[in-house]
Amino acid sequence: MDKELTEPRKLDHIRIALEEIVDMSKEERWFDSVELLHNPLPDSSFDEVDLTTEFLGHKVSAPILIEGMTGGHKAAKRINEELAKAASRFGVPIGVGSQRAALEKGELAHTYRVVREIADNVPVIANLGISHVLGSNGVDNAKRAVDMIEADAIAIHLNPLQEVIQPEGDRDLRDGLISIRDLVRELDVPVIVKEVGSGIGPGVAKLLDYVGVYAIDVAGSGGTSWALIEGERAPDRSKERTASNVYKKWGIPTPAAILSVSEAIERAKLIGSGGVRNGLDAAKCIALGADMAGAARPFLKAAVEGKHEAVVSLLNDYSYQLKIAVFLSGAKSIPQFRKMKNYLLLEPLASWVRRLLI
Ligand SMILES: Cc1cc2nc3c(=O)[nH]c(=O)nc-3n(C[C@H](O)[C@H](O)[C@H](O)COP(=O)(O)O)c2cc1C
Repeated sequence: MDKELTEPRKLDHIRIALEEIVDMSKEERWFDSVELLHNPLPDSSFDEVDLTTEFLGHKVSAPILIEGMTGGHKAAKRINEELAKAASRFGVPIGVGSQRAALEKGELAHTYRVVREIADNVPVIANLGISHVLGSNGVDNAKRAVDMIEADAIAIHLNPLQEVIQPEGDRDLRDGLISIRDLVRELDVPVIVKEVGSGIGPGVAKLLDYVGVYAIDVAGSGGTSWALIEGERAPDRSKERTASNVYKKWGIPTPAAILSVSEAIERAKLIGSGGVRNGLDAAKCIALGADMAGAARPFLKAAVEGKHEAVVSLLNDYSYQLKIAVFLSGAKSIPQFRKMKNYLLLEPLASWVRRLLI
């Protein structure tokens, strides 16, 4: 792919992602089809409810992850700085966006590395797309991405919908599973596999679990729509633009992905993301079987509009609201809350789950 295209593309993504129209959570709230059951007599003290969670060998303050989004440009560096300050202050893990730009142009590495430099007390996650780790350079690319930011883990994103709507997208995705297996074998850090908004279902999750990934981040539908983001970049009346609207809701709804994947896997940790828009959504992720809940666009918006203070404030909101759900379920800790499976499912989500459970 042409090097010149990567940088402006990352800026386009940020600009378009800030527009409400690409956030499906405005029109399709899958988390509203999950209810948590109320316990009016919790045998606990709210102040003692413990949200701390073990993730990538760290004890983090809450099971919340700032999902990988950006890097590769000086404006992106400023966003990464604000996100990293907030992650460090609050004590939650943080990912960077795809590091492809810096693999192509080494002088951009600092726009990602800033996250490691600032967030030195929390797990930092490197990021590459599956197409950058296919073939004979795959392991080397991944090693360079990890070393570039001294990452605690690397997330490999699966984004076939985005690639086919993106006019310059990588469309030959053969041998992806083998490449992931090789990364698990060859890298010194754990491998996370994530989608970007269309979800990972139980069949693929089982394969990923089998090859030994550390975590699966379902990144399901119901949040940021990559079909719409790429569609906005495509020329008016192009086939890509038309298809982007047709496919804007494509994918496995996040809560259905979490529940079905949690039943299918044995070893990997599970991250629920895609449309997690408040702490109650995060609580629903955990109740359905996730170890962590992640969000992207809400943190991006906060960072751009109100710097790290706004991101910290949003993290505070998420964590306070999550704590309320744990307390009102009668649990005292995240592992206990997760084990309770304190949810019920409404239609149309329940049909999704019936179909997905294998
Ligand atoms: C502006 C923006 C840029 C993103 N860039 C990346 C990326 O480079 N790599 C990646 O794995 N995911 C990327 N994502 C996807 C998110 O990590 C996440 O999986 C997805 O957006 C779902 O979260 P949300 O609904 O809370 O936004 C990006 C998301 C946004 C909003």
